[in-house]
Amino acid sequence: MPVSETFRHSASAEGPNSEQLVFGGDYNPEQWPEETWHEDVRLMREAHVNRVTVGVFSWSSIEPREGEYRFGWLDRVMDLMAENGIGVVLATPTASPPPWFTLAHPEALPMTADGVRLVHGSRDTYNPAAPAYRAAARRVAAALAERYAFHPALRMWHLHNEYGTVSYGPETNTAFRGWLQEKYGSLQALNSTWNTAFWSQGYGEWEEIFAPQATQYLPNPSLLLDFKRFSADVLRDCLREQVDVVRAVRPDVPVTTNFMLPAWNHYDQWDMAAEIDEVSVDHYPDTPGIEGDVQVAFGSDLARSFNGGRPWVLMEQATTMVYDYAQGRILARDPGKLLFNTLQYLARGSTGSLFFQWRSPRAGAEFFHSPMVPHVGENSRTFREIVELGTTLSRLPELAQQPANGNRVNRNRVGIVWDASAWWSAETRALPSNDVAFLPAVKSVHRALWFLGINADFVQLDQDLSGYSLVLVPSKLAASDAEADNLRRFVADGGHTAVWYFSGSTDENLNVRLGGFTGAFADLLGIRVEEHFPQPAGDILKLSDGSTADGWAESVELHGAVSVADFTEFPLAGRPAVTRNEFGSGTAHYFATRFGEDSLKDHLERILDAAGISKDHPAAGRGVEAVRRYAGDRSYLFLLNHTGEAVDVDVRGQDLLTDTAVYGSTVLAAGAALIVREPHETP
Ligand code: GAL
Repeated sequence: MPVSETFRHSASAEGPNSEQLVFGGDYNPEQWPEETWHEDVRLMREAHVNRVTVGVFSWSSIEPREGEYRFGWLDRVMDLMAENGIGVVLATPTASPPPWFTLAHPEALPMTADGVRLVHGSRDTYNPAAPAYRAAARRVAAALAERYAFHPALRMWHLHNEYGTVSYGPETNTAFRGWLQEKYGSLQALNSTWNTAFWSQGYGEWEEIFAPQATQYLPNPSLLLDFKRFSADVLRDCLREQVDVVRAVRPDVPVTTNFMLPAWNHYDQWDMAAEIDEVSVDHYPDTPGIEGDVQVAFGSDLARSFNGGRPWVLMEQATTMVYDYAQGRILARDPGKLLFNTLQYLARGSTGSLFFQWRSPRAGAEFFHSPMVPHVGENSRTFREIVELGTTLSRLPELAQQPANGNRVNRNRVGIVWDASAWWSAETRALPSNDVAFLPAVKSVHRALWFLGINADFVQLDQDLSGYSLVLVPSKLAASDAEADNLRRFVADGGHTAVWYFSGSTDENLNVRLGGFTGAFADLLGIRVEEHFPQPAGDILKLSDGSTADGWAESVELHGAVSVADFTEFPLAGRPAVTRNEFGSGTAHYFATRFGEDSLKDHLERILDAAGISKDHPAAGRGVEAVRRYAGDRSYLFLLNHTGEAVDVDVRGQDLLTDTAVYGSTVLAAGAALIVREPHETP
């Protein structure tokens, strides 16, 4: 009898109100002898581990030959976890096809943009558009679902790992052509949208179209954008197929897939989130110190927003290390920082914390990546900090409750537009300046708000925006009429918005809107943008209100808006750089340049004041983080001091970390945190 039959009546999937915060990490027992598993369980219990992620890259251990499954080891691991009260997030291993797959299906291996066919030897070596890969992935997912869907240790399905492979080549070309036929219906429509008359690219047959591999010079930007959308849809379809497979066996086990944040843009996170029950993310700040802490807030706010404002799963973070990718070094996290950063994630809605990885491997790729149990063993700073963290989280079960009445876990009034198409369109290489980049623009706005002590969500421009008071649009080159209409309605109904330079200058297919740049938003903003003046690197622009800026300038005409600050230098002296337009019951602001750090904060503060937006606590800002998290019918004020000095905070309630009452002025030492259960029930 299969194990799934045995457990059919005893299994319990994770409900929406888990009783504890989750704590644990990626667990790879297949890399170790079974004696070590018992050692693992002893250490897990000591550290209050209640969740492990098993099977992420285990394909060759589960299916060593095509169609031949070996479940014995996994049965024993699942049973061991169940016996010890440790829930399993069971992964499908499809991010790492085994060596037999390479030989059996060479056509399903990925091809680079330069036409190089990759072979096995690392991970993610497959073409997601190749039918053979898709079939093999569905088969192994189904085999796991059949066997373990009713196992009592199972808490959640972890489908794949960090979808993100983009491939070119014959299989991709076939799939891309099919996608284009569905989108455009006719070659005439495609030729017109891509303006293929430019550089003699007119297509007479679908077979003439190729995925954008290496070309002689600039590729067609509209084709590139469609290819990025196609590639994202392929990954979404891979996910959807696996969701269908596991739900067909047992629909009430939640499914997730882990997003790599924030630098990956191979898919549209909003679309992927719509396929799964819970959003989970992997997050690795690449800088120590306060800038790393700002990244923690950024990643958390993205994760929570993708999950519709609900609590989200931190599937991976590093324990005591920071990956400094730029310098090629792994830096040590300061003592105590692991707990501090984890409280930040918690404040902004995480359900706890999982890590990559439980135990350091003896050998293999990533053998020096950060573990919960390091090579040196349990007698280590790392493991001691893990025990401290697990013990702390185990004392905070009340935070594991969902907010009452389906409310958002943080109730922010500022929305920042996050948009995959905007990011892709800013990457199409033929733009007037690199300073129209997406991620740096969005990050700089979120960072400025963080230092002002204002918490924000991320939003899409075509969603219902009525829960927000202020919507910020830092970089949104490609914008559809429907998105522009939605923003217009939001402002007409009393909302506030700020739009940054070059946004809305094209439609959703990178066709420039004629008659004035920023065309999608021009009437809302009450302006006409006539000409761009990208600035040489390093040149600083001074504005009439004392602000400084760089990178970009424009000649803006006022068509109903008023100027808030002008450029002061030739050839734009006296022309508006910052404008404000009353529109219906709301206000629309425009920035025709890129502010320096302080000026950005000043202008955001002006707009936040006008929109009546306040902080979660008056002490917030300049390195003191204050975030109110809702759980059950209570609110919890997290206060975290990122500065080097003690600060006084006025708080009332019960501090969960020390289990003491706090009333009135309280000293928050440098690097310290409070989680104050506030006295009143919340609606
Ligand atoms: C993640 C990945 C893990 C591991 C980790 C190392 O992106 O999911 O498998 O590679 O990074 O930092």
